[in-house]
Order: sequence, then C-alpha cells, then structure tokens
Amino acid sequence: MNSPINGFSRRRFLQSTGAASLLYTLAPIADAAMQSAPIRKAIPSSGEKLSVIGLGTSRTFDVDSSNAAQSPLVEVMQAFFDNGGQLIDSSPMYGSAEAVTGALLKTVTDNSGLFTATKVWTNGRNEGIEQMQQSMRRLRVDRIDLMQIHNLRDWQTHIETLLEWKAEGKIRYLGITTSHGRSHRELETILQQQPLDFVQFSYNIEDRGVERRLLPLAQERGIATLINRPYQRGSLFRKVRGKPLPTWATDIDCASWGQFFLKFIASHPGVTCIIPATSKLKHMVDNMAAGYGRLPEESTRQRMIEYLETL
Ligand SMILES: NC(=O)c1ccc[n+]([C@@H]2O[C@H](COP(=O)([O-])OP(=O)(O)OC[C@H]3O[C@@H](n4cnc5c(N)ncnc54)[C@H](OP(=O)(O)O)[C@@H]3O)[C@@H](O)[C@H]2O)c1
Repeated sequence: MNSPINGFSRRRFLQSTGAASLLYTLAPIADAAMQSAPIRKAIPSSGEKLSVIGLGTSRTFDVDSSNAAQSPLVEVMQAFFDNGGQLIDSSPMYGSAEAVTGALLKTVTDNSGLFTATKVWTNGRNEGIEQMQQSMRRLRVDRIDLMQIHNLRDWQTHIETLLEWKAEGKIRYLGITTSHGRSHRELETILQQQPLDFVQFSYNIEDRGVERRLLPLAQERGIATLINRPYQRGSLFRKVRGKPLPTWATDIDCASWGQFFLKFIASHPGVTCIIPATSKLKHMVDNMAAGYGRLPEESTRQRMIEYLETL
C-alpha cells in the first residue's frame, strides 16, 4: 500500500507519467523510506519548516519559455511537488529560468507547498527594485518568499531595500548568496553584522570548506542555509560512474549515488535545504528520495568521505 504524498500516491504518479519502471530502479530501499513523511528542517528566524530537498534552476530551466508548458520539464516539476518539494531557487542571471519556472508552476496540479526563492543581481536601488518586480512577473507570483542578493552584488544597497520589502510584506525572508567558495571572508563579516534569514553557498561531499566557518556561523547566528552545487555541477557523478555503492548505504536508506551525495549534505545540522538542479524526471525522483528515511550520523558521514576517497 502506498501512502499518499501531498495527496498523491507516488506509485500512481510514476505510473501516470509512464515512469513506473523507476520504482524498480529506486526500489526497494528508497521506495520503502518514501512511505514516511519527508524530512523537514526549521528556518531559525521563524520556525517554519521546509522540506530538505529543494530545486535549483540554473541551466536546466534555461530553455525556450514559450513552450515550457508543453516540455518534459512539466513532469519534472510535477514530480517535485508530488514528492513533497517546496523551495525552488532561481535568479534573473539564469536566462529564461524564472519565466520557465513561472510557466511550469501553472501546470502543476497542487503547488500549495511552494516556497519561491530568487535573487537580485544588478547595481543600484532602482535597478534592483525593477529587477525584483520583473522576477515576480516572470514567476507569476504576488510575493516572493525569499529574496537573495546574488553573489554579494551591491549588497549594501540591496539589503536596505530588502529590509523595507520584508517590513512591507513583499517578501517573507531575505538572504545572500555565493558559490564555488568565492568571497567567504566578506560573507562571514556580513553574516556577523546583518539581520539575514538565509545564506546560500556551495557544499558537497568533495567541497567541504564551509564546514570550518560558514556553517557553524550560520548555526550560531540563527541563519538558514541553502546549499548549491550539491553534485559539484554534476562532476561527482562522473567520479563514481561504474562504481558500486557501499553495502552499508542501505543502513541510511540510500539506493543511488545521488541519494548518497544528498544525504551526506542533509545530515549536517547546519543545513536547512539543498537545491540540486535537474532537467530529467528520473533524476528528480532520485533526488526527492534523498529527502526521506534515515540520515547518516557523524561516524557514517566520515565513512562516506573515506569510501569516496578509495574510489
Ligand atoms: N551564486 C549562486 O547563487 C549560485 C551558484 C551556483 C548554483 N546556484 C543554485 O544552485 C543550484 C544547483 O547547483 P548547480 O545547478 O550548479 O549544480 P548541481 O545541482 O550540483 O548539479 C546539477 C547537475 O547534476 C545533474 N543531476 C541532477 N540530479 C542528478 C541525479 N539524481 N543523477 C545524475 N545526475 C543528476 C544534472 O543533470 P540532469 O539535468 O541530466 O539531471 C545537472 O547537470 C543551481 O541550479 C542554482 O539554483 C546558485
């Protein structure tokens, strides 16, 4: 018997999308684990809980927006919500990704759990306001849940606007982003001094630099974290191609390398939500499965790192 996830049986969804065979590529561990509720983590500044697996849109959603609603991405987006997904991260920097996300959201049967996150990526107060208004039009929403300053760009200007917008209810949370390990020193100072709800940076089993200062600092300051590049932009999969998962991966309900990588990240106590990007239904179902079942404890996390180093 399948328990419904967001009112929709996962098995029925996979069958309806012609992807029933995925059940068997993911089964039996992930399928069994997904009978439980998705893992959700609290945003420290409000206590609101978010599903630990979100969705990135860079490159994968930068496609022709005029026929997005007829594209295979419709099924990708539907699978995200059917499996308990909430947070979608975009940016005006990602070409047509915001407009494509907006079009796809209209095709989903139930997106009531949606949590929109996008970014401001320009210089100047008025330019920032115009860009954020444009993002709302492109995403087809009246309010953005989380507005982030992309790559620290003109952050001193935008943070004033974001605080005003939060007070006026135009956004619910504000944050700032970086990636690839860039600007960590400056980001640290900003986290120490500014009233941020969220910070976004890169973290994965291979690139663990943020464990030293940024993750503990975010915990200490009560700032939620969004994790980008969880698959090192896909390069982690090239590293493990043809290599077996360790037998003990079943102990943490892991049935694929994708789940192995995501569960490593999700198990860090400072992590709030991970935003892997995918253009494929099969990968979306795989990624969402990582948000269910058991997570590794500290000793297993070390074992995961060591195992990867032997490959
Ligand atoms: N400064 C910033 O603010 C910043 C910077 C970087 C990223 N980000 C955000 O973080 C998101 C994620 O980072 P990213 O897109 O750079 O990289 P990523 O999520 O680490 O990797 C994406 C790649 O992994 C592949 N993939 C996804 N799931 C898979 C699975 N289960 N099995 C095998 N392959 C899989 C995707 O290909 P398929 O399409 O074939 O699945 C895609 O090529 C971005 O989309 C963006 O929203 C923000």
